[in-house]
Amino acid sequence: MRAAVLRELGTPIAIEDVAISEPRAGEVGLEIAASGICRSDLSVTDGTLKSPLPVVLGHEAAGVVTSLGPGVDQLAVGDRVVVALTPSCGECLFCQEGAPNRCLAMVPGMIFSTMGDRTTRLRTGDETIYQLCGVASFAEKAVVDARACIPVGDDIPLDRACLLGCGVLTGAGAALNTPEVGPGASVAVIGCGGVGLAAIQGARIAGAEAIFAVDIDPVKRELAMELGATEALDGAGDVQGAVRKRTGLGVHVAIEAIGKSETIETAWEVLRPGGTALIIGMPRSGEKIPIRAGGLFLERRLVGSVYGGADPRRDVPLLLEHVREGALRLDPLVTAELPLSGVAEALEALRAGRGARHVIVHSR
Ligand code: APR
Ligand code: ZN
Ligand code: ZN
Repeated sequence: MRAAVLRELGTPIAIEDVAISEPRAGEVGLEIAASGICRSDLSVTDGTLKSPLPVVLGHEAAGVVTSLGPGVDQLAVGDRVVVALTPSCGECLFCQEGAPNRCLAMVPGMIFSTMGDRTTRLRTGDETIYQLCGVASFAEKAVVDARACIPVGDDIPLDRACLLGCGVLTGAGAALNTPEVGPGASVAVIGCGGVGLAAIQGARIAGAEAIFAVDIDPVKRELAMELGATEALDGAGDVQGAVRKRTGLGVHVAIEAIGKSETIETAWEVLRPGGTALIIGMPRSGEKIPIRAGGLFLERRLVGSVYGGADPRRDVPLLLEHVREGALRLDPLVTAELPLSGVAEALEALRAGRGARHVIVHSR
């Protein structure tokens, strides 16, 4: 099958013929229908996020089940599924504590770019090809953990449903799973890419009263207004001053969806006393944040958030319900659809800050 392989950091990703093996116990084979291109994929290409190489990137996927490994009885061939980033094993420490978004079963995928048994199902000749997040969806096919597959109905096209695999679950989930983002709340969303635009929609669905959208790109600011922001602010301007002018004391919640120390600092500074800075962007490993400690004595809270604090098996169907009702709009998030061969170009567009989500589409 064809897959986009990253062989060396800083070099363009190239389409290669890659052999894919049959699913092992607890795994399924998928025909990838669509894969969104997320900032985290780009972050692997420049070393901001680490992965062994060569690797097939792509982790925001939807597809159709084509084969079942031994012991898989919860899915059938032909099922249309969104692939979650965590298997939510139900057994590990974190799943037992009710935090499947921290499931230990996703560690091999996240750290080693392998399946749960630390091996991969992809190779060229004798060479192991790694699978980003255990998904590797910049490809025609994939083998993934069956527990990560969440069935979706026939009524939602897979080239939109795929966005729930990462960006939309991370953004909308973070807003919907944070009790402070509720009716009457004021929220600032800093960074309005695929993830931030989903956070804005989540905040609107949660009933937030004021939603400030902060981005350096006017196109993103316009999109943010279309999707429910009540005011858009230029990230290159005096964000803190503008938020204070409108709110007096600052916002209840600032959601940072970029992963840069300076924007995390902005999230901290726009908070009112008792406010929460929710960091959903992924900073470069080793990055330090220069925040003013005095804010702690205003009972501000700096909170990390991974994968929208979501339980994918609960939250993906819930978000799909919002999509059906028209409250969560996926179409405006998609800047362009492209074939697998367009992936290098789309990564370049993302690097240059052009557009929200690019989606590789094989079928719908
Ligand atoms: N101030 C304001 N906006 C900024 C700034 C800044 N200093 N720098 C970048 N931006 C905006 C960009 O213009 C863009 O709209 O942040 C947005 C980031 O969006 P994307 O690059 O599309 O990233 P996205 O896929 O949404 O991911 C955001 O979440 O999952 C993580 O790794 C991912 O850290 C990344 C974050
Ligand atoms: Zn678990
Ligand atoms: Zn992602």
